[in-house]
Amino acid sequence: MKELYSAEDIATTVQRLGAEISADYPAGNVLLIGVLKGSFIFIADLIRAIAVPTVVDFVSLASYGSDTASSGIVEFRKDLDMSITDRDVVIIEDIIDSGRTLETLCHLLQQRRPRSLKVCTLLDKHARREVPIAADYVGFSIDNGFVVGYGLDMDERYRNLGTICLLPQS
Ligand code: IMP
Ligand code: MG
Repeated sequence: MKELYSAEDIATTVQRLGAEISADYPAGNVLLIGVLKGSFIFIADLIRAIAVPTVVDFVSLASYGSDTASSGIVEFRKDLDMSITDRDVVIIEDIIDSGRTLETLCHLLQQRRPRSLKVCTLLDKHARREVPIAADYVGFSIDNGFVVGYGLDMDERYRNLGTICLLPQS
């Protein structure tokens, strides 16, 4: 495995994203929606880098089986606990690949009439996009390849790595 981003690179980027979000919502009351499971470590660090009051909730969707290529099928596994109507919402994703997961989630959440809806992703594989969707806050832009660590998995493995690594092509 090749290390792409060190723990220090990640910490610096998470601080930058936290500062950007804090600056955009000076009044606070932001509702962060973590997309499980991949974003759990990212959101844990990110909320501590945001200086304004935030609230956290989680959803779980699945677009991947045990494969490393998108199936194109998005499944709702866990819904939000809270209402997002008239709230400022920021979706927190680990990585955007085809964009299908996020497109489905944004569509579902827009129907509940949030005041605003933005997206923050740690990693963006923009060249692999199959649907036109963009994040408002991007940590790192990467090329093709499958990455693991810092919450991201391959078949549930490697989430515990403190760095972000590129898996060798199989
Ligand atoms: P999309 O619907 O194709 O954009 O897929 C997004 C989801 O697939 C992400 O939230 C991840 O859970 C997973 N995923 C996509 N690429 C990678 C990767 O390189 N490593 C780990 N998970 C990935
Ligand atoms: Mg995910």
